[in-house]
Amino acid sequence: MRFPDGFLFGCATSAYQIEGGIRNDWSLWEEAGRLKEGSARCGRATDHWNRWPGDFALLQSLGANAYRFSVEWSRIEPEPGRYDDRAIARYVEMASALRDLGIEPFVTLLHFTHPIWFHETCPWHSGGGRCVERFEAFAERMGRAFGDRVRFWTVLNEPGVWLTGAYLAGVIPPGRRNLLELGRAFVAQVRAHAAARRVLKRLSNGRAQIGIAHNVLRFAPARRDRLGDRLASRFAAEFYNHAFIRALVSGRVHIGGAPGFGFQIDEIVPEAAGTLDFLGINYYSRVFLELTPFSAGRMPWLSTFYEDRGTHGTTDLGWEIHPEGLTEALLDMARYQLPIYITENGLDDRDDSRRGAFLYDHLAAIRAAIARGADVRGYLHWSLVDNFEWLEAYGPRFGLFSVDYQTMARRRTRAADLYEAIIREQALPPARPEPRVRKGGRTPVL
Ligand code: FCB
Repeated sequence: MRFPDGFLFGCATSAYQIEGGIRNDWSLWEEAGRLKEGSARCGRATDHWNRWPGDFALLQSLGANAYRFSVEWSRIEPEPGRYDDRAIARYVEMASALRDLGIEPFVTLLHFTHPIWFHETCPWHSGGGRCVERFEAFAERMGRAFGDRVRFWTVLNEPGVWLTGAYLAGVIPPGRRNLLELGRAFVAQVRAHAAARRVLKRLSNGRAQIGIAHNVLRFAPARRDRLGDRLASRFAAEFYNHAFIRALVSGRVHIGGAPGFGFQIDEIVPEAAGTLDFLGINYYSRVFLELTPFSAGRMPWLSTFYEDRGTHGTTDLGWEIHPEGLTEALLDMARYQLPIYITENGLDDRDDSRRGAFLYDHLAAIRAAIARGADVRGYLHWSLVDNFEWLEAYGPRFGLFSVDYQTMARRRTRAADLYEAIIREQALPPARPEPRVRKGGRTPVL
């Protein structure tokens, strides 16, 4: 049960969720009372912007050899064309420190948040070239600043999650529910990825490895005997798991076109073809779909929910724990014949009673996929420390190190001890930690 030589083990985070002291489009959303708890604010987060050396020591204490983090565009370019050299210097210092610790940095350029000026003047759905040009200029600036300290780039984080939340459900900024805008934003982000890749490749003489951190869900029909549920699951998988990746592989954006559903976008973006050097996969759970005229959710004809139908129970948020789905997802994504890194996988577990088993089972699921031919080269656990979980704010606890938000002290979990042992041995120990399974019911996704 050993992992392949050179396998990368580490953690993933994102700037807004841990750094603190950032003002961007999400801050506006918070101020408008749009989080689940209206008064919640991101605020200081975990104060990582000041405590990063200590947090990197935690990473090192695990024996990690990789770390994914994002750079916050609103810090770096507070006004269009005006860059903050001190903020850039701090990120460069972080990347150098990681290199000195023998930890390979994976840098994300866009992890859900935007400068307010971008949000207000040229958001992704505005179309035209300006949003792509602005993003390209930002990518160029960061490529120059990092130089050869950074080799791996996950340019965009989860465009599928972001586009669905921003333009279909309307629950995250810019909070719209408009399919035409969704299509425009989708194409703009495909272009932005391609533009960023071109510039990062040029600056590195081709050495930069360009990828994406792509959320993949397992979709399953709520009622196996209903053709509608089965078709909905297949269509959801096509749109959500494959459409964006296919655009970056083939240069053709094709979304919509489900039976009985008029909306369709079919556009050739030639510069996007072949723009992935690797595929980053973020995997969390399985979602059940039920086609119904009586949906209580945000989509009138479709209920989407997590449900405790396996043997592993759920996370605190009610997401089904479904490690088998990770093996299936990896085998499914292997069709693109690209090296794969797990760029996020984890759970919210307030009392640390399931994190060890979750980690163990998902790493076993990856081993199973590798044994069946999937080219998986690394695993980055979400997350290093507890953090600000978007609409849910500070309730969920995703950290291998938990954070006391009063004192900002970090405390090691039992799961961190297990992860350290796995990394040291490059293998799973014979004994799987026994979880306290939390039985859950049904939890709506949207
Ligand atoms: C992913 C996001 C990440 C974090 C985890 C729990 O969808 O990329 O920022 O919120 O979920």
